[in-house]
Amino acid sequence: MKKISLDENWTFRWGYLDSVGNLENDKGLQVNLPHDAMIGTEVSKDCYAACDSGFFNGGICNYTKFLFVPAEWKGQKLGLKFDGVMMNATVDINGCKVAGQNYGYAPFYVDITPYLAYGEENRITVNVNSGSVSNSRWYTGLGLYRGVMLCRSPLLYIADDGIYAYTSEASGDTAFVKAQVEVVNDTQENRLVEVCTELIPDGEETVAALSKSVIFVAANSREKAYLSINLKNPKVWDCDNPNLYKLKATVKSNGEYRIRLEEKDDIPADEAELLFGVRTISADAERGLLINGKSVKLKGGCLHHDNGLLGAVSLYEAEARKIRKLKEVGFNAIRTAHNPPSSVLVEACERLGMYIFDEAFDAWWVGKRAGDYSQYFEANWKKDLTAFVKRDRSSPAVVIWSTGNEIPERGGLAKGYSRATQLARAIKELDPTRPVSNGICSMWSGLDDKLASGQYLAQNVNIGVYENLWEKATEPFTNGLDIVGYNYMEDQYEKDHEMFPQRVILGSENFPNQIGYRWPFIESHPYVIGDFTWTAWDYLGEAGLGKAFYADKDDPIVNKKPWEIMPQQTSHFPYRTAEDADYDITGRLLPQGEYRSVVWGSEKTYLYSRDPAAYDKVEMMTFWGFPQFMKKWTYPGFEGKPVKLAVFSRAQEVEVFVNGKSIGRKKVSCEAPMPNLAEFETVYEPGRVEAVSYVDGKEVSRDSLSTVGQGAEIKLTCAKKLLKADGHDAACVMIDIVDSEGRTVPDAAIKLTAKVEGPASLAGFGSGNPITDENYTDETSVTYRGQACAVLRSGYKDGESKLTVYAEGFEPKTLFLE
Ligand code: GAL
Repeated sequence: MKKISLDENWTFRWGYLDSVGNLENDKGLQVNLPHDAMIGTEVSKDCYAACDSGFFNGGICNYTKFLFVPAEWKGQKLGLKFDGVMMNATVDINGCKVAGQNYGYAPFYVDITPYLAYGEENRITVNVNSGSVSNSRWYTGLGLYRGVMLCRSPLLYIADDGIYAYTSEASGDTAFVKAQVEVVNDTQENRLVEVCTELIPDGEETVAALSKSVIFVAANSREKAYLSINLKNPKVWDCDNPNLYKLKATVKSNGEYRIRLEEKDDIPADEAELLFGVRTISADAERGLLINGKSVKLKGGCLHHDNGLLGAVSLYEAEARKIRKLKEVGFNAIRTAHNPPSSVLVEACERLGMYIFDEAFDAWWVGKRAGDYSQYFEANWKKDLTAFVKRDRSSPAVVIWSTGNEIPERGGLAKGYSRATQLARAIKELDPTRPVSNGICSMWSGLDDKLASGQYLAQNVNIGVYENLWEKATEPFTNGLDIVGYNYMEDQYEKDHEMFPQRVILGSENFPNQIGYRWPFIESHPYVIGDFTWTAWDYLGEAGLGKAFYADKDDPIVNKKPWEIMPQQTSHFPYRTAEDADYDITGRLLPQGEYRSVVWGSEKTYLYSRDPAAYDKVEMMTFWGFPQFMKKWTYPGFEGKPVKLAVFSRAQEVEVFVNGKSIGRKKVSCEAPMPNLAEFETVYEPGRVEAVSYVDGKEVSRDSLSTVGQGAEIKLTCAKKLLKADGHDAACVMIDIVDSEGRTVPDAAIKLTAKVEGPASLAGFGSGNPITDENYTDETSVTYRGQACAVLRSGYKDGESKLTVYAEGFEPKTLFLE
């Protein structure tokens, strides 16, 4: 099937389109897809989803596009491919309902052939409805937030997602690739069909290997061609060498079905292609995870699907930037928490080299929110799971499938054990090559009333009959899993290894501030194959999950436990982001990420101070929080007052100098409060503070902080100068308020206005501030810690675009993009 993007020029309207008359009454808004209808709305205090969605409301809306279908297309197959629509979508063609899709993250294909008028304009309408109760535990976005493709082919064609390829062996100088091509024969005749597959190094023209076969496909039916491709001198794919091939499949048939095909030029043919990488994978408890035969530990980060200032809009460049930045910290894997990702995120991982723990669901039949997928799971799981696996199963980047996250059925309630096995089996039938997993958590839920009654459980767990309660309750749930995902249960790895010596364990989700303890253990135990932090990149919703703050010693809040200051308890309006990540939503690296890079081997030194105003206070943090270390040495009014300093380093010793004078040299801690940390105290004096790391007495690296002056200038930084005029490219322009020496002013809260002229548009404008009621789609934003970000999205026209950023008292700054 030829796929053509249909993303340009849709009309967006609020409400349900029940009659064509409404198209006249409401002119709507012209938008290009991907489009998120939620991100441009105002947040509200009484939002029903509250901190789940970061106080963004859902709604009902519709999208319409008129598509001219030429008369010559008569007799061809036409379809629409949606990469995900949020949510409860219905698709109409010329007023006729042709499909419905509840799950907002699963791709789906709609055959529109029977409903089209040829030689005429056709109306495509998509209605969406996110419900009136919370439908998720995070910000979902709303509408056509991923792309839409028009699929066109002859009546004998390659099915949507009809190519499946995997490497059966890649050793020595040959890779043995198996390919399946699903051929659909919608004609009234039986056909002999020639199927050809070619492997072409990505970006090149020359075919590196091919394979052909002739198969029989009966009238009005479908059949798979099974091909073997032997590729000489393969370039294998892994996260450090993301070597890709284009796998192109062609089918043709001259209408005969009894004799072999003769070469003819005018035979209608169909073709399809995908990106492919030669790579093998296996996992066992003795050797761990092997990728292309080499042991790999997954340095992982959980990611939600939103793109911060863009809301849920998924653009290749926004996803690719995220992946590039995660690699800078040392991440080699992401977990698509807790749903199928966009196809462009998968492509970014393929192109840049990032392993994916590809996850299907956050809820099965037992819900987590009244309006969530649990309502549709029983009816739809197989369809949605199949569409997801079929889309991603040839991707070299996908290394593990996950059937779900913290599924309440893990203790067996609500058909849990059978479903767990059925889901794993359904995946293995579609793709037997990759391990299947599930992120399982402790039994804080998922037990029947008797076991769950608080006091009963608390008193009895791990004693007598309740000993190893989790292991006993979840063992049947793990049937069919090749890797058992442990969410927040690193304390059980050793014990469980003794109980289940063959079990491959993966830390599928863990607290960020504990990585320094976990990583050395993971490195030295083959049966634990990696660790995923919650989360690698901040996200909208679950607002305030990782909050940390200072409280007075006599404030009653200091007696609260970490779970008592979790989002629902203390994240009041307008808390917006989870604030638990290595990067903020604009892509600025936070101390948490710097810490992780040190744990994972970086020899850099990172120096921070703590706010001297909080010197006598108690730091409060949720489990997902991180100490409030600041890249800052500007504390006017605190001259002569005590101040704390923190240094991350993997060296043996660290020495700190204040204005050139040593305040001490210390061993870097291996223990509490955190490995790879050295803490100091001094008296604040403006100037420069510097930390130096030493191994065997020799300096390995250093870092410094300086007292900065008043904001003097707006600084714009952008890695890109050129955007593709395809409506999908983007540039993130980082904005800093800097002093006369070009240093970011950490306290600057300056109101900025951004204007864009030219074919690009301002797709998102805001800061990493986790608590804000700003609208990222308007032209104003206040800098947070002296910083903001503007995301420019390309249009469909060529030309120069100009971003100008204004602030009262500052010279406007401009930046040009071609
Ligand atoms: C986990 C869950 C995540 C996130 C995290 C922080 O239990 O799997 O989705 O909610 O807790 O609350």
